Amino acid sequence: MNELNHIAVIADGNGRWAERRGLDRARGHEEGLNRVEDMMHWCVELSIPILSVYCFSWENWSRPQEEVDSLFELANHYFERYREFAENNIRVLISGTTKRVKPESLEKMERIQRETAHCDGLTLNLCVNYSGRMEIVDAIAKGARTEDEITAALYQRLPEPDLIIRTGGYRRLSNFLLWQSAYAELYFTDTLFPDLSLGEFRHAVRRFERTRRKFGGA
Ligand code: IPE
Ligand code: IPE
Ligand code: MG
Repeated sequence: MNELNHIAVIADGNGRWAERRGLDRARGHEEGLNRVEDMMHWCVELSIPILSVYCFSWENWSRPQEEVDSLFELANHYFERYREFAENNIRVLISGTTKRVKPESLEKMERIQRETAHCDGLTLNLCVNYSGRMEIVDAIAKGARTEDEITAALYQRLPEPDLIIRTGGYRRLSNFLLWQSAYAELYFTDTLFPDLSLGEFRHAVRRFERTRRKFGGA
């Protein structure tokens, strides 16, 4: 059985979830955030030490300002709850560029990372304002040239994701963890992110555990 150290989730489908209910897209993001919290518990339950979640891509700035504002407002409230994360022994990391992010949000992001840095339970890596290509370019700008140097110069020093789940029906990476996903197993589901259940999450994990990983070997 494969060991699952790091699961990464492209949390897509919040907007459609809301639209299908005649709700504002922001409501979909709110419900999506509830699922992120559920996933944190599921990972603890399934003994998965690292969870990465794609929350906001660099390309998502192209959305209407109102939606972008609602997303950052939601994120700000979430980051304000840093004490709860620390109490639950969850180490929060935030991966992405600081470009375009308002100082108020940056300050909250720094605080939650600082206040949970000592936690050694689940590691929650939130990819906010993230671009896989930009991450690689940033590593090269720091002088990284070789494969090992680039790996070491990425936003986080985490083991590579073993399994990437994308909800919402599309079968693409949308610029997520491009360097780190070289040998990740991929699980795509039509389920919209707010509808993701423990049952399906567990199903994806079980399927991963049974997959024969070969890494180029015979
Ligand atoms: C994913 O849901 C969350 C973000 C990109 C912030 P979407 O908002 O992309 O949902 P759909 O794809 O429009 O349904
Ligand atoms: C990917 O979803 C980004 C996040 C989940 C944060 P998008 O909805 O932005 O991706 P595309 O535009 O469908 O590729
Ligand atoms: Mg989408």
